[in-house]
Amino acid sequence: IKSVAVLTSGGDAPGMNAAIRAVVRACIYYNLKVFGIKRGYQGLIDDDMEELQSNSVSNIIQSGGTFLKSARSMDFRTEEGRKNAITNLKKRGIDALVVIGGDGTFTGARIFGEEHHFPIVGIPGTIDNDLYGTDYTIGYDTALNTVVEAVDKIRDTATAHSRLFFIEVMGRDAGFLALRSGIASGAEAILVPEVKTDFDQLEHFLQTGFSKKKTSSIVLVSEGDEIGGALKIAEQVGKEHPEYDVRVTILGHLQRGGSPSAFDRVIASRMGISAVEALLDNQEDVMVGLTNNQVVLTPFSEALKNKKPLNPQLLEITKILSI
Ligand code: F6P
Repeated sequence: IKSVAVLTSGGDAPGMNAAIRAVVRACIYYNLKVFGIKRGYQGLIDDDMEELQSNSVSNIIQSGGTFLKSARSMDFRTEEGRKNAITNLKKRGIDALVVIGGDGTFTGARIFGEEHHFPIVGIPGTIDNDLYGTDYTIGYDTALNTVVEAVDKIRDTATAHSRLFFIEVMGRDAGFLALRSGIASGAEAILVPEVKTDFDQLEHFLQTGFSKKKTSSIVLVSEGDEIGGALKIAEQVGKEHPEYDVRVTILGHLQRGGSPSAFDRVIASRMGISAVEALLDNQEDVMVGLTNNQVVLTPFSEALKNKKPLNPQLLEITKILSI
């Protein structure tokens, strides 16, 4: 391998810049040429890329977003789009790709790698933390801290008015962000897609925890919850209990922004370097991950097939903490 290209695709996550920086610096360290591709797979199809130097990635470790920009390319879902992509890579003499993103990014990588026998290594970057093969994805820790900070603020006003707040957090169909931020912010109840919403339990909590004590209450709702998010649950509870002063906050895309936490910068740096080393070791179609603080490689097929479970111990302790 002599020349590598790197891209970020799908929803951006804080720490992606730190990962790009590590990929670029590792390539230079190992005497490889390195190209940055703009707007994910779309830039690959449009031949929107440029060679990067060490100073191209100076001063970005602390920035959220991704300086390469991101996209969810529809063209890359077509055979024709992928043919243009391989033509552009060959034209520029690029032998391998590092893709930073989530499951959509790796699905594209897997199809492309198989179709054109092109070596690709993935780096997990998503605030959802929903990738099998790694304990943490880049961006998750920062998003967690953002959610906790926001919930702390909402708690102040909720307490001042003795209100019941339903706060919706991102995570697509996974409850990692809701579960961990719920524990960290002292939420009275946490609703995640992985666990069937028990209305009796919620009702019991509202009766004992909220209506009797007349203090504030925070219910964290994962956007993928089966009921359909915080608005729907709040509507249902509000109908049954017109006496409650209910409010809803949907945190939305603010969870995706901000300067990455030290934790995300460090894991992004480790994963970026490991991705380049994996390519030099002739690995392909694998995702770099961290399990028990050790770098591990997981084939895309496995990372995509398996659903990462929520930590059962965390689920268990929420029951104790919310009594
Ligand atoms: O995968 C990251 C994520 O932020 C999810 O939590 C959320 O469901 C989705 O992306 C939102 O996507 P978009 O930015 O396209 O609205």
